Amino acid sequence: MADKEVSTRGNWNSKVGFVLAAAGSAVGLGNIWRFPTEAASNGGGAFLLIYLICCFLIGYPVMMAEIAIGRRTGKNPVGAFKALSSNKLYPLIGMWGVLCGIMILSFYTVVAGWTFSYVFEEIFFAAGMNDWATWISNTGNGWLNAIFSVAFMACTISIIRGGVSDGIERATKTLMPLLFGILLLLIGYVIMQPGSSEGLAVYLQPDFSKINANLIFAAMGQAFFSLSLGMGALITYGSYLSRKENVPQAAALVTFTDTLVAFLAGLLILPAMYLAQAKGITIFQDGQFVAGPDLIFQVLPALFHDIGGLLGAIVGVTFFALLSMAALTSTISLLEVPVSYAIDEFEVPRKRAAMLIGIGILVISLIISFNTALIGWFDYIFSAIGLPLGGILISLFVAYAWKTENAFDELELGNNNFRHSIVGKTWKIFIMIICPLVILFNLLRSF
Ligand code: TRP
Repeated sequence: MADKEVSTRGNWNSKVGFVLAAAGSAVGLGNIWRFPTEAASNGGGAFLLIYLICCFLIGYPVMMAEIAIGRRTGKNPVGAFKALSSNKLYPLIGMWGVLCGIMILSFYTVVAGWTFSYVFEEIFFAAGMNDWATWISNTGNGWLNAIFSVAFMACTISIIRGGVSDGIERATKTLMPLLFGILLLLIGYVIMQPGSSEGLAVYLQPDFSKINANLIFAAMGQAFFSLSLGMGALITYGSYLSRKENVPQAAALVTFTDTLVAFLAGLLILPAMYLAQAKGITIFQDGQFVAGPDLIFQVLPALFHDIGGLLGAIVGVTFFALLSMAALTSTISLLEVPVSYAIDEFEVPRKRAAMLIGIGILVISLIISFNTALIGWFDYIFSAIGLPLGGILISLFVAYAWKTENAFDELELGNNNFRHSIVGKTWKIFIMIICPLVILFNLLRSF
């Protein structure tokens, strides 16, 4: 019966469908925009190290918990907590997730709009239309931001209107390998430039003295953001997952892919920052990192313009187009959460839900378009604090309300005897004790 219920809501088409969709959700601006900026402002290599630890030791267990909740219940985050417990307080965890998703999507759309606009910046620059190129590069221009936010939200809404399996799977399958390929090419180019070795050293040689409460807090928030955790996106995606699939393995693949893309983005951006600085773009002042959320939109175009000619234009356009697509497979997962909530709990038809909620969020994006300083605040409250907080609540819920034995029953569909395996036993300890305690400790210490 449960299986039938799941299939009428929509389902992934193929075995790889879920992994692709979840990896598509994970890989996005978080990897290429947020990660390098966080790494650069938190001491490079030390941040990378703590970030990797957070992804695999905190993120991975929480990811399995979210997917298990989603697949067991076949519901949106709010409905899922309702289905697993009669206590009226638990669905509030899902509500918090829906709220965080809405607020994250609102600023994410603005940054995704910048990404998309830079496709045109590269074209104008290559065509010698320098005034136009400069006009686009003004990320403080409210009208410009508004136009591209509207365009980006329109794309997100149109895919969500069509349902989960068609758009998301197809888009991810071809574009992710391409993004990966272009990242590798660019890294090769940057590393060969004289002057890039300083950035490489900062990124790859951790300076342990840089590790402090703020760094750990930032790395933890980044891990949650990048893996799309803590607000129920993977509860929702898990609800469309077949009972035959191996959840621990799928989650491992998603974690690994996402971390790899972030690592590569750092390998590109940190050395490129030093090249850009040498060209007169202010990234550091008196040894302090001063670039803001527009870091990559300064550093990368400088790189593409430096390559120059037709090749530079092709690489630049392709890169920003692919990054826009990666952002789109992420905004899709953010919008799908409130939309699935409206569909399941209020029986709103999918098309109408996508339209109404999408436009509602766009209104917030438009406010942010004219006040870009809000991006940092929204990001701090709803990503850096909101997502880890959701992670604590989800862990505690699975450990002490739903109970790990029930979660194991779910995880063992598709992974025989998981509870007796080393990963399974470790997962139990992490979900019951280590994840909630470590996250809580770090949140408190950062205040
Ligand atoms: N993970 C995406 C990125 O790195 C952003 C994202 C998509 C997200 N869905 C999410 C972040 C859910 C938090 C929660 O760009």
